[in-house]
Amino acid sequence: MFIDTHCHLSKEDYDIDKLIKDCNKNDVNTLIISGCDKKGIAEGLEIIGDYPNVYMTIGFHPSEIDTTTDEDINWLEELVKTNKKIVGIGEIGLDYHWESDKKEAQKELFEKQLCLAEKLHMPVVIHSRDATQDTYNILKEHRLKGIIHCYSGSLEMAKEYIKLGYYIGIGGVLTFKNTNLKSVVKELSLDNITLETDSPYLAPTPHRGEKNTPEYIPLIAEELAKIKEVGVSDVAEITTRNACQLFDLKRHI
Ligand code: NI
Repeated sequence: MFIDTHCHLSKEDYDIDKLIKDCNKNDVNTLIISGCDKKGIAEGLEIIGDYPNVYMTIGFHPSEIDTTTDEDINWLEELVKTNKKIVGIGEIGLDYHWESDKKEAQKELFEKQLCLAEKLHMPVVIHSRDATQDTYNILKEHRLKGIIHCYSGSLEMAKEYIKLGYYIGIGGVLTFKNTNLKSVVKELSLDNITLETDSPYLAPTPHRGEKNTPEYIPLIAEELAKIKEVGVSDVAEITTRNACQLFDLKRHI
């Protein structure tokens, strides 16, 4: 079985009933929704209430800096305390591609949510775009574990994150032609990798450019199996185990 550790699901984008059935057909049995703005969190809460094997991480994406208040952070805390299907804080982080003029505000929001995760003993899901050094420097100051979501950096940096206690989140980009990610992943142990789609974004080949869906997780797993020269079932078993350990999924069922 497979777990999609990171997808954005909304009823506008998907027929959720059909999606869950199609996922099950493809052996994708467990989904973790990333609710990373107020609307996404509200929608995710409805979905996890309706489906047994769907969980959620909640947090405010760096794109939400202008509208996120301390009250909103308190809201996250209340949600975690009252809903057992919330299994982590994320996606949170730094994005210097889109909001490069607001670095300090981004760092502040990131820090607050990392502190919340520490307080609640929750793993974190990290978004880092064009901000590797700052992301790493900040994470180094916290004692947390989590996933570096949609990893696209160097092998050296991946090793540093792993040393801190993070998994490397691998998605559809792995299936793209000419991606440097293939050579990075080749040198990593499967013990340090989790699978994700980031649906509806970043659909894997041969669906590149279309709307992504968690049912495509096996396409990413197949590419990973090819690169690592192992069976797809090994990839499924190890990456599922990694995700269950990180998010303590049994405890939340
Ligand atoms: Ni995402």
